[in-house]
Amino acid sequence: MDYLKIFSPATVANVSCGFDSLGFAVDAVGDEMTFTKTIEKGVKITQITGANLTYDVDQNAASAVVKKMLLEANADFGISLTIHKGFSPGSGLGSSAASAAGAAFGANQFLEKRFSELELTKFAMFGEEVACGSQIADNVAAATYGGFILVRSYHPLEIIKLPVPEELRIVAIHPQIEIKTKDAREVLPLEIPLKDAVTQWANVGGLIAGLYAENYELIGHSLVDIIVEPYRKKLIPYFDLVKNNALKAGALGAGISGSGPTIFALCKGDEIAEKVLDAIKNNYENTGIEATAFISKVNKEGIKILEKI
Ligand code: HSE
Repeated sequence: MDYLKIFSPATVANVSCGFDSLGFAVDAVGDEMTFTKTIEKGVKITQITGANLTYDVDQNAASAVVKKMLLEANADFGISLTIHKGFSPGSGLGSSAASAAGAAFGANQFLEKRFSELELTKFAMFGEEVACGSQIADNVAAATYGGFILVRSYHPLEIIKLPVPEELRIVAIHPQIEIKTKDAREVLPLEIPLKDAVTQWANVGGLIAGLYAENYELIGHSLVDIIVEPYRKKLIPYFDLVKNNALKAGALGAGISGSGPTIFALCKGDEIAEKVLDAIKNNYENTGIEATAFISKVNKEGIKILEKI
């Protein structure tokens, strides 16, 4: 193989109650990346469209991952990359994760798929660190594995793939302000009261039980975040308005996607998802903030191969 084109999905991390431990992949939004094998060793980026990102191979999340993998595999060839961002960095939809996970997946195709999904997730976490300073797994594991995932443990890394109820739909709105993950982590408390921890872990359990049982009501009751959302919502203008409108229109639950500012809602079925989209898509009109909204299914396969030569 000399050439590969892939789609790497956007992801929703945290999923309300599961800070740093739950995530799912989105079908409707993502990046396209191409990989071309070169005789010259090493990695280079020949084109980036859709966002203003660095071409410095050690600073760019995608090229840094490819470089590390080629070195570890002692490859006798190189890879040249193009990246088309389908959504903005700083949106809360796992932009650097899509690049990092896509890079790991793509490079692995040229390395006879020697690395497992878990190993690819670790390489992609390195890319996350290059982009935003921390090795967080929830977005990159969701992009790599597809569907809904639980990061059951970080040390050692353990990823559990969870079931995706058939009628589950995502509605999301992205107000065009940029929130850096690093900043959104700095507003969080270092300690939390035990009673809040009890509420939160009970909701994580409820959400996972709801996914296994396809119990949409239980999923809805469990999509509650009393620990992170109260701090981070202050960074997102009109968060309460959007969330309340989504719930009034029939969403099962709504919250902050990753570190924001995108707000996501989960819904049962297309009809309710359309109603929720209608209820929130114009919420930023006349506020001076541009916003884009979309409906999507959960992406069950993760990264997809679009072309291979
Ligand atoms: N779990 C991470 C956070 C996702 O919320 O900070 C963003 O990378």
